[in-house]
Order: sequence, then structure tokens, then C-alpha cells
Amino acid sequence: MNPAEFAKRRKQLMQMLGSEGVAILPSAPVRKRSRDVEYRYRQDSDFYYLTGFAEPESVAVFAPSRSSGEFMLFCRERDRDREIWDGHRAGPDGAVASYGADDAFPIEDIDDILPGIMESRSRVYYTMGAYADFDARITDWVRSLRKRGLAGVHTPHEFVALDHVLHDMRLYKSRAEISAMRRAARIAAAAHTRAMKTVRPGMREYELEAEFVHEFRLANAVPSYSPIIGGGANGCILHYVDNAAELTDGDLVLIDAGCEVDYYASDITRTFPVSGRFSPEQRAVYEIVLEAQHAAIDKVRPGNHWNDPHDAAVRTITQGLKKLGILSGALPKLIKDGAYREFFMHRTGHWLGIDVHDVGDYKVGEEWRLLEAGMVMTVEPGIYLAASRKVPAKFRNIGVRIEDDVLVTKAGPDVLSKGLVKEPDEIEKLMAAA
Ligand code: GLY
Ligand code: MN
Ligand code: MN
Repeated sequence: MNPAEFAKRRKQLMQMLGSEGVAILPSAPVRKRSRDVEYRYRQDSDFYYLTGFAEPESVAVFAPSRSSGEFMLFCRERDRDREIWDGHRAGPDGAVASYGADDAFPIEDIDDILPGIMESRSRVYYTMGAYADFDARITDWVRSLRKRGLAGVHTPHEFVALDHVLHDMRLYKSRAEISAMRRAARIAAAAHTRAMKTVRPGMREYELEAEFVHEFRLANAVPSYSPIIGGGANGCILHYVDNAAELTDGDLVLIDAGCEVDYYASDITRTFPVSGRFSPEQRAVYEIVLEAQHAAIDKVRPGNHWNDPHDAAVRTITQGLKKLGILSGALPKLIKDGAYREFFMHRTGHWLGIDVHDVGDYKVGEEWRLLEAGMVMTVEPGIYLAASRKVPAKFRNIGVRIEDDVLVTKAGPDVLSKGLVKEPDEIEKLMAAA
């Protein structure tokens, strides 16, 4: 992403902080997978959003109208030996030259410098509770200032939740962000297409996962969450990630897999027949979910509220379950009682952005938030008919979810993942041609 994009975000933040405010953000910690093996490092989303700086052991500080610089980065110093093992470090000089910091310091010096900056401000913006170790350091710095209060040292008298301010900013995507998200959607759509073309009865779920990893890494993307690849009954397990079972002729396979590229995520689900042909029962369930998804996507318009797409999906799914003979009774009562929840137990979507379940409030006060241009959400209704006495035998173990990523625009819903087939005939055609 262009450095100007990060600069623009910082400017917007500075305006909200005002000259009496200071914002402090730590980088994400390095996380251990097991013993001395670490996970691939992923920067904290808020930190990255404002800095574009992807190194651990860093702290970003924003102090509007500070005469010697508003944007400060504390980071690791250059270290020839460590860089041989772990790779390049920007160092404080690089933080200024390449990341637009006005001032940068070695991370070791933070105890000497940061309390002095806090002392000059009355409001500290900080996200409490994300990193316990860093919370404790903030407390220590405040305590050290208070101790010196008798000597006339000023302590900030207001602590403000930074996430509240920042997450509202992150909810409205810029053009650059939308283009990154289109790319993430395009890469994931190509991977789903590849999986549809590759699947054969007798394969294992992980063999399809391998197709996703292949397609993602070719584009320098990584999975934005553990891919869910569930054949047959496994398609009814919402967070199934074992991906180890055999894919059986006659079953459906549900794949929920998206990628992250340049820190932006996609999140896409498709469900298709292992054999390439839907059975009549599978098709009947699939068509209800698809109709629900179309109805929900149609509600993704400025001025509608957050829950309108969900309400539309619930209505179509409840009607559909009635038609299949799985629910019976009057539609309004079934909806009011939440009878569908046994078979559609999750929400119809969530915000999407740097995080898969992206930040931003869904309600303003007691009311659902109104949709506005620039917001991006998923639309992902599903029906899960796990084996139970309530489900007629012919429908058992059919799990269907269809998920796309949708941008709110003044001209209506813009489906970022639209390159990927989802009409049953199109799926069958694609699979037959493979
Ligand atoms: N893949 C997680 C979700 O769909 O929310
Ligand atoms: Mn998903
Ligand atoms: Mn999702």
C-alpha cells in the first residue's frame, strides 16, 4: 500500500486526538507455536493500519502538534548478528526514512522517553485489554508520573479507549483498501475454482486444502483463517478444521476459505457436490440458501440497517425449511420463535477488512447501525441438516453455506467475490468441464 495512505490515516487520527491527546499502540507479540518454534509474524491490525510497519517489538506514539515530531516509532535497532538470523530491521533511521516517522528511538529507550511525552498531555488514548504485558507497562508509566506528582509533574487525567475511535475509522474503506480487498477476493475465488475442478470422490479433504495453499502462496497471500473443508456430515460442523476425512461420492463438500494479502482479508464459502452433480435433495437445500443469499445481498444498500440482510436471509430460510417439511407452522411465528436457529445457527455476516471479523460497532446505542458506502461485509447464510430425528432421512448430513464479500456502494451491493460461480447449473458445468 502507498505510504501516503498511511499518512492520511495518521492525519485523520491526529485530528481526533487533538493537541491535548496522545495515542500509544504496541506491536503484536511474537507468538510461539510449540517449544522454540514461532508462528509466522503478523503485525497487530491497528498498529499496521496506522504505520505500515511490520516488525515486532515496536511501539507507535501519536502526539499531535508536538514540536519535535507528532508520529514517533520505537523499534529494534539494527543488529548485524540478529539480522543474519532473522532478516532485515529498519532501525530508527529506517523508521524515519521509509515509514514516515517524525522521530524514532530504540525500543530500549522507551521507559526514559514515553513518560515525558505522557506528562505533557491530559488525555491518553490506549486500547486496554489487548496485550496484558503492555497494559502493565502503561500502568507503570502512569504510576511513575504520579509518584513525581508532588514535585509538580503533571499526570494525564483522562484515559480514552483508542479502539473506539480507530475502529470507526477502519470501518470505512478507502479506494486503496477496496482495491486490496478485491485482490484478496480474486485470489480466493481462483482457489475455490481450482478446488471445484480438482475434487474427485476418494480424495481427502486436506488434498483440497493443498489447492488453496498452492493458489494463495503463488500470489504471496496466506490463509486469513484456517480453511474449513468439510465433506458430508462435516459440512454441518461450523468450525471444522481437521480436513482429514475422505470425500465420498454423493456427498457435498463445504469449503470456507479466504486469504490475506497485503493485510486485507477475503472470506468465501462455496458448497458443491463431490461427484460434480447435485442430488435433488442437495439441490433443493442449496437453492434455498442461494435464494436467501441473493435476498440478503440485495439489502446491502446505504440507509438499510445492519440487520436487514440477516432478516431477509432468515425469512427465506424459514420459508424454505417449511417447504422441505423440516419446519411446520405459521411463518411469522416460526420467525419470531427463532425456529430456524436449529438449522441456521450463525449470523448472516460480519464486517470484513484487515481482520476477517473486522472491527466496527454493529449497533449505535440500542439501534442497528445504518449501512454506508465504503463498508464491507460478508453475506453468508447457511442451512445445516445434521442427522437428527427432526430431519427427514433423505436430507440428513446436508450442510450448505454460501458466502461472498460485499461492498456497500451508492449504486447498490458490489460483490467483491463475484468472479466465483455459485448458481448450481454453473457449478455443475464448471465441474463437468474439468
Ligand atoms: N470463516 C469465518 C467466517 O465465515 O466467519
Ligand atoms: Mn467464512
Ligand atoms: Mn465469514
